[in-house]
Order: sequence, then C-alpha cells, then structure tokens
Amino acid sequence: MSDGTETAIERSTMERLVTGDDDAGPAEATPSPATDRDMVFRSRDVNVYYGSFRAVRDVSFDVYKNEIMALIGPSGCGKTSVLRCYNRMNDLIRDARVTGTITYRGVDLYDERVDAVEVRRRIGMVFQKPNPFPKSIYDNVAYGPRVAGQKKGLDDIVENSLRKAALWEEVSDRLNDSALGLSGGQQQRLCIARAIAVDPDVLLMDEPCSALDPIATARIEDLMQEIKQDYTIMIVTHNMQQAARVSDTTAFFTSDIHSERDTRTGILVEVDTTQKIFSNPSDERTENYVTGRFG
Ligand SMILES: Nc1ncnc2c1ncn2[C@@H]1O[C@H](COP(=O)(O)OP(=O)(O)O)[C@@H](O)[C@H]1O
Ligand SMILES: [Mg+2]
Repeated sequence: MSDGTETAIERSTMERLVTGDDDAGPAEATPSPATDRDMVFRSRDVNVYYGSFRAVRDVSFDVYKNEIMALIGPSGCGKTSVLRCYNRMNDLIRDARVTGTITYRGVDLYDERVDAVEVRRRIGMVFQKPNPFPKSIYDNVAYGPRVAGQKKGLDDIVENSLRKAALWEEVSDRLNDSALGLSGGQQQRLCIARAIAVDPDVLLMDEPCSALDPIATARIEDLMQEIKQDYTIMIVTHNMQQAARVSDTTAFFTSDIHSERDTRTGILVEVDTTQKIFSNPSDERTENYVTGRFG
C-alpha cells in the first residue's frame, strides 16, 4: 500500500485481536480502496503437520468479505485441517503444527501478539455434529457473551441471535428447556445462534449438515444465504450439490499419493468461482471429481 491506510487498518485490527477491544483505533473511519478492505483472509504456502506427518501441503488462496467459500474434496484430503487453521483451532490439537502464513484483515493470525481466544470469537466455528452444551436453549446462546463479561442486554442478544439463526419462532416459548431436547437440525441452528451471539466476523462450518435430514439441511442452506450479508463463511462439505447451491467460490482439494512411502498429502488443486469449478474447471482432477468420475 502506498498511502499507508492499510497499515493503519492492520494496526487497528491487531490492537483488537490483542486486546479484544472493539473500540480501539480510529482506522475504521478511513477505509482504503475496496479491493483491500474486502479481503478477509490471505493464506500462502500453508502446511499442516501432525507430528512428522504432513497432512496438507502448500495451500494458498484468498477469501473475500460476504463470500461463501466451499472447501470440497475426497475424505482425508485435509479440508478439516485447513479449516481449523483459520481460527487457530489446530493450536488445541496435540502434535498439530501449522507453517506458512495466514493473514486475517491484514494481520498475521499466527503473530505471537495475537490472542487466539479473541481470534476464535471473531472467527466462529460450527462443527459436523451439533454440539450444544447440556444447558438451556437460552444459556447456550448467552454463553459466549457471558464469558466475555456481558451482563446487560442478554435477552436481546439471545433473541436476535436465535432470529438470525431462523430458530426463534420454534423455541421462543421454551427458552429454559434443555437444548438437548431439540431435533438435530434445531440443535445445529442453535449452534449457529451460539456462534453468532458473540458478534463474529467469519463463520467456519465443517460439514454442518452431514448429520441432518434433507429438510433440516435445506433450512441451514437458506440460513447461510440470509446471513452472508453479515458474515464471511467458509464451509467444508462432502456434498457437491450443496457446494454448488450455496457457495460463491469453491476450493477443490485432493490427496497426492506417494506410493513408495505409502503416505498421502492434501493439496489444493484449484480455487475459482463455484460456477466455473462445476461447469468448466481448469484441472482434469477437478473435472473428474465434480462429474463423479473420481473413485
Ligand atoms: N488430530 C489429528 N491427528 C493426526 N492426524 C490427523 C488429525 N486430524 C486429521 N489427521 C489426518 O490428516 C489428514 C487429513 O485429515 P482431515 O483434515 O480430517 O481431512 P478431511 O476433512 O478432508 O476428511 C488425514 O490423513 C487424517 O488422518
Ligand atoms: Mg473433515
């Protein structure tokens, strides 16, 4: 950047990631050109290791604001490992190590000054299997704000989050009931509400519909379209139709097999608009996969 604006934004984002203070810095008032503002993530040469096993090799791509990016590819190619890099969830896994760079709004996510807990607040995660806490519906949604020290306005946060997650109409009269009594689809929407309640910027979703029936899946897909105005979303899915339906861009991963060493490493084959990946991909491996010719 020649005008120094990005530096100001970087500093401000860094301050907030370090301190968790959303009011820090005046940089938000001086937006830089749209192209810079709109990039949420930039990853370069990212590798994920578990011990000495390299699970993912040299992944580089960019993610833009209000975009839904789908990560697709065969089982074991490293989609979950890659997704976990984006909110430093791999930090919590023994033996996991990430190399390369990932910037979030211009700030190195792995900079030692960055607070990983604050990262996970801004970059929320929804898992494959709905995992509500064994608490009431209300307490599940209020959990994050309470941990952050919020005491006032919880009722509004709970209601707004449940509305955004398209669950309010179904649960407004039983907020004190256990979350575990909800259906699987409702539990997953509750987990989305819980993620939304801490006012994140990005949502990472790891096969969020794989445990759900088609009707519940359709509700989550509709919900994603509704909330993408407010968030940037990265979704791992093994359901290609889902990727084609919901995402704007798609990253296709596969496993590079080293037969002599009997190991495999996940690699990014290509990333492009979802339309292009599904109609006219550049790489033959992508074409084979999206047309179902992959074994
Ligand atoms: N916590 C872990 N410890 C060791 N190996 C792991 C761990 N998580 C994933 N792996 C390995 O990393 C590779 C990629 O896995 P994963 O990221 O889960 O792929 P995908 O989500 O595409 O199915 C696989 O070989 C898997 O066995
Ligand atoms: Mg996975």
